Amino acid sequence: MHSQPAFTCKRHLFDIPADVTYLNAAYMTPILAEAAQAGAQAVAGKLQPWNTAVPDFFDPPQRACALMAEMIGAAADDIALIPAVSYGMAIAARNLPVAAGQKIIVLADQFPSNVYPWQQLARGCGAEVITVARPDNGDWTMGLMAAIDQDTAIVACPQAHWTDGSKVDLVRVGEACRKYGAALVLDLTQSLGVMPFSVRDVDPDFMIVASYKWLLGPYSYGFIYVAPRHQGGVPLEEGWISRRGSDNFARLVDYQPDYLPGAGRFNVGERSNFMLTPIILHALETLNDWGVAAIADYLATLTDRMADRAASLGMRVADKAHRSPHLIGLTFRGAVPEGLTASLAAQKIYVSVRGNSIRLSPHVYNEAGDVDRLFSALGKLI
Ligand SMILES: Cc1ncc(COP(=O)(O)O)c(C=O)c1O
Repeated sequence: MHSQPAFTCKRHLFDIPADVTYLNAAYMTPILAEAAQAGAQAVAGKLQPWNTAVPDFFDPPQRACALMAEMIGAAADDIALIPAVSYGMAIAARNLPVAAGQKIIVLADQFPSNVYPWQQLARGCGAEVITVARPDNGDWTMGLMAAIDQDTAIVACPQAHWTDGSKVDLVRVGEACRKYGAALVLDLTQSLGVMPFSVRDVDPDFMIVASYKWLLGPYSYGFIYVAPRHQGGVPLEEGWISRRGSDNFARLVDYQPDYLPGAGRFNVGERSNFMLTPIILHALETLNDWGVAAIADYLATLTDRMADRAASLGMRVADKAHRSPHLIGLTFRGAVPEGLTASLAAQKIYVSVRGNSIRLSPHVYNEAGDVDRLFSALGKLI
């Protein structure tokens, strides 16, 4: 019997100068250096398209869907490409029935791309958006379970709250949704790639994710998982490439009534996205190779270290049981000291502030030394 080698810091695969401590993955991650090279090559190809091999419209985006499917335990056909979470949410909102008097449940302070579509949908049909209050100890699951009942049409939530990483037990929420016949729509932009998730365990109706944060992908590139029960639904657009037989360029005006199989009809136009696709392919291959569970375990050692150090400075953090491995909020007893992020940035330490908390979000390029550097700077500033 042989065990897996321990996961180690991957900083050497990124272009991060030695004096930079970047703890802001929840805002935007750097892409892998090799992915940047692949993207640069794709950009160069467009300088002189007559000198470049005919680009492949079909296989690379299909491969991106297959890699996403591998990450979440789905079939490649269950995945479509989208440019933004808002686009994916519009697909979900268009395809879920809601009746007057029913409830759509969201979390307090949820990211707006997963709130506005529900407000709009509710307004249009006399339903109500119900907001689960922020729990003191970070336990969103309890509040969600209490809110879901026979009047619930949709639960729209994340796995880790974008402001402080407090987590939601999606397996339990999925069970409650099935029990009451409610639909489950997930925005996993702040957790997928660094927190294990499987559609087999949760059975969401739609799962939506932007790739430019934890998936180490480019901006304007995301994915939607569409449960097989919704794959006959209505797409947002009627592009040529989402129809069956679109790979036969000579017959494109033999207009086709049929869509691509599975979730194919939901793809955004120009999904071939020649410049960005090489970047996401490299990123997803790398993350799948490392394994999400191994990444999560590694990042939890960093956030645990942050939690210990924060407690010694008198800051509050969510209980470990309700924290996600990769994203942690340190709450000040009073207001965040004036100019804190700017003072840290002047020392090349990068974090975010949300409300009266510092939001720390390490990824695979961080190590214990980054945590120590941050806290030694914080100790002098507060
Ligand atoms: C939880 C979450 N969802 C979605 C987004 C981005 O949304 P969109 O792709 O609609 O711009 C962000 C960006 O910070 C986010 O934190």
